[in-house]
Amino acid sequence: MTTSATFQPVLERIAEEMERRPGRGRAADYIPALAAFDPNRFGMAIAEPDGTVYGVGEWRQPFSAQSVTKVFTLALQLAREGDELWEHVGREPSGNPFNSLVQLEYENGIPRNPFINAGALVVTDRLHTRTGDAAGALLDFLRAESGNPELTFDRAVAASETAHGDRNAALAHFMASYGNIDNPVPVLLGQYFRQCSIEASCADLALATGFLARHGVRADGTRLLTRSQAKQVNAVMLTCGTYDAAGEFAYRVGLPGKSGVGGGIIAVVPGRCTLCVWSPGLDERGNSVAGVAALDRFTTLTGLSVF
Ligand code: DON
Repeated sequence: MTTSATFQPVLERIAEEMERRPGRGRAADYIPALAAFDPNRFGMAIAEPDGTVYGVGEWRQPFSAQSVTKVFTLALQLAREGDELWEHVGREPSGNPFNSLVQLEYENGIPRNPFINAGALVVTDRLHTRTGDAAGALLDFLRAESGNPELTFDRAVAASETAHGDRNAALAHFMASYGNIDNPVPVLLGQYFRQCSIEASCADLALATGFLARHGVRADGTRLLTRSQAKQVNAVMLTCGTYDAAGEFAYRVGLPGKSGVGGGIIAVVPGRCTLCVWSPGLDERGNSVAGVAALDRFTTLTGLSVF
């Protein structure tokens, strides 16, 4: 248990341990623009509900947020639509890779959860219908919550994904055939790839996740989600946020968490703090190797977990 008034010492200890740790995985190579990152890079930040932020390593280095953004689009759309959203996307772990197609046919075009690609496409589609610019609404939200007006899209990453987007296109077309996509598929894919391409640092993303530690309340004190909805988002992160490794993540880390193939992972200790760790080397399920290890050490060293 840490009794320290700040999280700085525990962050420094984790960074030191990670430096000595062998085996960092490999950067995502299915998006060529991400493949060049050195798996040895590492940063980690912790934000308290009042906006105090601690960091270590490359905690201010922007990286490709990728699927971490799926938490924020879910929250934005749940706030707009409420429970009706769950008629279009489930909330059960899929036990399958993030880009899998296999369950969609026998489950009638309703994706298992909002964090696999199929589910995120449904959420972004619905957010786009209601806002006219889903990726723009997401960027505005992230800028406001992080306090960083410079956050932006990385056009090269979005273009790289578009050029290699056959699988996401297949998912979107397949769901459209079941009537579960409202916008033209090319429009939806453009929004989704822009969403994934947002560049943000560990500090930015730890701060932007703060509303989930504050039980739904935004940085400016206004409410985005009801307390119950914030609990729901945290629960879906715990059970589905790391795809077919969600059981292992819950076992090792014991926190709601969401990974992205850029190597970022966000995590929430409700009522206490939010975390973001970045290291570009991934395991075979698309989760950052050093990121999961660092969060594992955090909950072990501090005793802060939801269990
Ligand atoms: O849809 C994709 O392939 C990516 N843009 C996002 C995937 C992702 O980050 C999955 N995460 N682990």
